[in-house]
Amino acid sequence: MVSKNKKIKIFDTTLRDGEQSPGATMNVSEKILIARQLACMGVDIIEAGFAFSSEGDFEAIKTISQEVEGPTICSLARAKPGDVDVAWKALSGGENVRIHTFISTSDIHLKYQFRLTREEALIRAVEAVSQAKSYLQDVEFSPMDATRTDESYLCEVLEAVIAAGATTVNIPDTVGYTSPEEFFRLIQAIRKRVPNIDQAIISVHCHDDLGLAVANSLSAIMAGAGQVECAINGIGERAGNTSLEEVVMALRIRQDFYGSDTDVVSEEITKTSRLVSKITGMSVQPNKAIVGANAFSHEAGIHQDGLLKEKTTYEIISPESVGAGKTSIVLGKHSGRHAFKTRLEELGYRPNEKDLNKAFERLKQLADQKKEIFDEDLEALISEEMGRPVERYRLVSLHAESGSGMKPTATVELSVDDTLLKKTGHGDGVVDAAYQTIAQITETKSHLCAYIVKAITGGTDAMGEVSVTIEESGRRVTGHGADTDIIIASVCAYLSALNQLAAGETRARKGQQ
Ligand code: KIV
Ligand code: ZN
Repeated sequence: MVSKNKKIKIFDTTLRDGEQSPGATMNVSEKILIARQLACMGVDIIEAGFAFSSEGDFEAIKTISQEVEGPTICSLARAKPGDVDVAWKALSGGENVRIHTFISTSDIHLKYQFRLTREEALIRAVEAVSQAKSYLQDVEFSPMDATRTDESYLCEVLEAVIAAGATTVNIPDTVGYTSPEEFFRLIQAIRKRVPNIDQAIISVHCHDDLGLAVANSLSAIMAGAGQVECAINGIGERAGNTSLEEVVMALRIRQDFYGSDTDVVSEEITKTSRLVSKITGMSVQPNKAIVGANAFSHEAGIHQDGLLKEKTTYEIISPESVGAGKTSIVLGKHSGRHAFKTRLEELGYRPNEKDLNKAFERLKQLADQKKEIFDEDLEALISEEMGRPVERYRLVSLHAESGSGMKPTATVELSVDDTLLKKTGHGDGVVDAAYQTIAQITETKSHLCAYIVKAITGGTDAMGEVSVTIEESGRRVTGHGADTDIIIASVCAYLSALNQLAAGETRARKGQQ
């Protein structure tokens, strides 16, 4: 089938504007890792940095332009001969390369910051584009602070830079000032008033100071823009840039409305988001669209009931389509009986109506006291109602020691089926020592798949939460533990996972009988 959709180019600036987020500095090898993942995700252009700004940026642009295949690799350059020259030096070994040069055009910037007249700025813009064009074909020009620039002058500058060879003209909303309707009209005006505009692609670059970057970019697409500049997780200067994942998924999900799409492989989005978050240290807010931890979690009973009957009732994007695993039904104070029963069945329980109702009442009480309800909480509730033992393993005491020049040691005492067992063991750290000792006492054959620590509150006395995933004979379970002492939280998480495996074995044995 031939698609009627217009192809929108995705210009990723995570490595340039994204890196301008306070604290998000990346080293050369980190930038290369991200660039490779962006290429794998199918972006069209990667702005790998600002070559003149630092040796690190120069190196990153040079390496990425020579080693990363697929996207066009771009360097930013002020409209200054030295900048354009260095950008070209960084890019010259690459095959698909672009120079992106810029100068401010708003009267506010020209008067107070650059002390240039409009005429001087126009000459600098044309000279920079001509210089870049003498090195390579693909040249982008940005009139910085375009949305606060006099419209007639903006159109004059755009016409001149296109005549000088610019193949993309980018319209930056540098301070996140515009609104969707106003930006739509500006892009339309540019298309009408710049006589040679058909010789260049119109790009947009929006900042999120008023929370409108994505809306403004989508509005510009409706008005005829062919390229969107954006960053993973929406990172960037101040409040950030247009979020790549949001624009890409809005176009994909609402093709009926926008009539446009991109070449982004959406299944790679979550992986890319996590990589950028890990490298920059900038965590993603849980309720962030597309890539937030809660983006595919449903808690309200009425939503859960609808979802369990038919996914499309409350889910417009499937988590699988962005590589985010599966829809999650979170059991909490707002959940309904339908979701509770379904989850219990997934965990292998088939309670009768009476036990189910009693356990459901207790779930509501528990949810009033506890922020998160885990599977083991549900197992504990239902097991008690059904008269089954819950915990095979219980921590009685723990003593852990470590320090320079000594082997980390842990002495663990457990109650195993109500018998006390105590052992001492060593490891690569105290957590490892405790885990090895527990493994010896419980004689578990499981292996550790994941160990994640997170601070629930701030400060060095923070409440720490540990999640541990273990696997045995193809059965994978996750246990959680929370304590101000991270070693105790780790041990509780491991025991909770072992208890789940043990409970599963008991159920399996009963099922065979
Ligand atoms: O926000 C901005 O104006 C920029 C330009 C350099 C495109 O980042
Ligand atoms: Zn910017």
